[in-house]
Amino acid sequence: SKRYSITLLPGDGIGPEVISVAKHVLNLAGSLEGIEFNFQEMPMGGSSLDLVGVPLPEETLSAAKKSDAVLLGAIGGYKWDKNEKHLKPETGLLQLREGLQVFANLRPATVLPQLVDASTLKKELTGGIYFGKPRGFGTNEDGEEIGFNTEVYATYEVDRIARVAFETARKRHGKLCSVDKANVLEASMFWRKRVIAVAAEYPDVELSHMYVDNAAMQLVRNPKQFDTIVTNNIFGDILSDEASMITGSIGMLPSASLGSSGPGLFEPIHGSAPDIANQDKANPLATVLSSAMLLKYGLGEENAAKRIENAVLETLNKGFRTGDIYSAGNKLVGCKEMGEEVLKSVDSQVAAA
Ligand code: NAD
Ligand code: IPM
Ligand code: MN
Repeated sequence: SKRYSITLLPGDGIGPEVISVAKHVLNLAGSLEGIEFNFQEMPMGGSSLDLVGVPLPEETLSAAKKSDAVLLGAIGGYKWDKNEKHLKPETGLLQLREGLQVFANLRPATVLPQLVDASTLKKELTGGIYFGKPRGFGTNEDGEEIGFNTEVYATYEVDRIARVAFETARKRHGKLCSVDKANVLEASMFWRKRVIAVAAEYPDVELSHMYVDNAAMQLVRNPKQFDTIVTNNIFGDILSDEASMITGSIGMLPSASLGSSGPGLFEPIHGSAPDIANQDKANPLATVLSSAMLLKYGLGEENAAKRIENAVLETLNKGFRTGDIYSAGNKLVGCKEMGEEVLKSVDSQVAAA
């Protein structure tokens, strides 16, 4: 049987709750396809700060690099919000993405209940204003305190995410919309120029451009106009949260972060949801679907991935809903019970197969 080593990073808040569900689902779906997983849980985020004083221990990054794929829950929480930058959970996450060199972030947004593909969002993940220098705090000429960041993109950074986006659009409906703020920002003008240059390699893909403020509006007005969207780190962060609400809930949307080699990083797009942590209320499906992306994009195990996707669909068809996606007439369940129902569905498909 095939064996894979998976680094699990439960993190903070609802992270451990949703990772526990995804781990069981991965195990079952894998075993039905002759796949064995060797899971290694490592500290990361706020819980790691409490444990060893840094948000991303070297041991965690090196274990992640050595594994076949990395599955992350979520990090962050009020407790660490006032920490210095290098001691924030979020900094650990950026270090992990940078350390694994996963520059392309896939955030497919799928509409419930029929799960019709609405749009998929590709965000550049390891550059832009999150990483640009100079950055920091200081004082201006008037002695006034200031905070500042810089948005920087190099040719190779825009070109490589643009290629991922064009390839994706090619496999979907052949339409790509690049979102920027080229009416104001030089970094965006440059982004647009490079996307247009790369477009020459993809004459079969229909390219359009949209300013981010309009894109935010159009996503709500008529999401179906979009096929694939490509955008930078910060706009992608914002638009993917927005897209999640069109599809039902932020508790439903998975993501995959990929580089040109090495293990991929798979995580829900949501955060640690401290408001509902440890109450068995979290929707585990975003993480379960992230584990399906792990199988598909990370390991090339399409059959096991399909089992999980089908099980999620079936569970929803049976009416099981966590609070975030609940509506009258459905069955309200907690995180654990939702996980158990998905497991049952993974199992019953075997019987059917
Ligand atoms: P959040 O995504 O954690 O929560 C936003 C809202 O959505 C909350 O009301 C929450 O209860 C709800 N929600 C999120 N996930 C859910 C789920 N699976 N099921 C049901 N409801 C869910 O965003 P936030 O409140 O802005 O941030 C909280 C913390 O998470 C912060 O410290 C932030 O930095 C961090 N964060 C981490 C990641 C990550 O680990 N990748 C992503 C976003 C935010
Ligand atoms: C996400 C998060 C992160 C981001 C934060 C926690 C650094 O919001 O994964 O969507 O902005 O990329
Ligand atoms: Mn986000």
